[in-house]
Amino acid sequence: MVRGRAELVQPEREEHAAAVRLLRGKYHQYEEMKIDENPVISIRPGRVASWGALDAPERAEPLMDDLLGRRSVRRYLDKEVPEEAIERVLEAARWAPSPHGRQPWRFAVVTRRETKTRLAEAMGEEWRTNLEMDGQSPEVVEKRLEGSRGRLLDAPVLVLLCLYLEDLDAYPDAFRQQNETTMAVQSLGAAAQNALLAAYSLGLDTSWMCAPLFCPEKVTAVLGLNPKLVPHALLILGYAEADPPKRRSRRPLDELVVYRD
Ligand SMILES: Cc1cc2nc3c(=O)[nH]c(=O)nc-3n(C[C@H](O)[C@H](O)[C@H](O)COP(=O)(O)O)c2cc1C
Repeated sequence: MVRGRAELVQPEREEHAAAVRLLRGKYHQYEEMKIDENPVISIRPGRVASWGALDAPERAEPLMDDLLGRRSVRRYLDKEVPEEAIERVLEAARWAPSPHGRQPWRFAVVTRRETKTRLAEAMGEEWRTNLEMDGQSPEVVEKRLEGSRGRLLDAPVLVLLCLYLEDLDAYPDAFRQQNETTMAVQSLGAAAQNALLAAYSLGLDTSWMCAPLFCPEKVTAVLGLNPKLVPHALLILGYAEADPPKRRSRRPLDELVVYRD
C-alpha cells in the first residue's frame, strides 16, 4: 500500500515526457495510445506498507496508530526479511534514550537455522528444568517447549538484546550501583519498544521473548558472545502469517493514573 500526495502533471511539463517514456517502457500497449496528450497522475509516496489494513483511512497520528496497531502475531511466513529492514529496526533501537546517553546495550542478530536451533536447544533445556521444578506435567512441559522452539525456528530473524554495563558509572555504594543497572534495564526496554514499533511500521511482525534472561551464560556461550554481555530478551521478526489478533484489552487509564494538583 502506497500512500502519498497525488498531482496531475500536464503534457507541457518536462516531467510528463519522462513519465510517458517510463509507462511505454513498462506497458507496450501504451505505445499505440496517445497518452502523451493526456495528463498523468504523479504520486509522491509518503508512506509504504507491505501489508496492513488497505482500506484504513488516512492516518492523522501515524505514531499513535503504530502504537495502537502493533500486536504480536507470532506466526511467520517463510519469507526472508531484507537486511535493510533489519538495519532500520536496529537503527530505531539505537536511538532509544539511555542513562548518561551511554547506550548500555548490544544486539546480536541470528538468521541461520543451525544457530537458531542451537540457541533454542540451550534455552529449552533451562526452561525444561524450570517447568519441571514448578511441577508441570510432562505433557504440558513438552507442549510448551515445542511451541517455543517452533516459534524460534520459524522466525526468519532473531535479535538478541543484551545489557552491556561496562561503560556505566561506578559507585562506592551498592544502592546507587543497583540503580545504575536498573536504569540500564529500563533503557533496554525503551530500545526494544523502539525496535518493535519500527518493525511494525515496516510491515514486520515481532514478538518479545524473555527466555535469555533465565540462562544468560548459556546464550552467550552458544552464540560465542563476549561474556560481559548479559542477554535479556529476544525479539523475533518476520512477515506475519495472519492478521494481528484483535486488540488485546489493556487496563483503562483511570486504573493506571492518578492526578495530583
Ligand atoms: C519483558 C517482556 C517479556 C516478554 N516475554 C515473552 C515471552 O517470553 N514469550 C512470549 O510469547 N511473549 C512475551 N512477551 C510478549 C507479551 O506477552 C505481549 O507483548 C503481551 O501479551 C501483549 O501483547 P501484544 O504484544 O500483542 O500487544 C513479553 C513482553 C515483555 C514486555
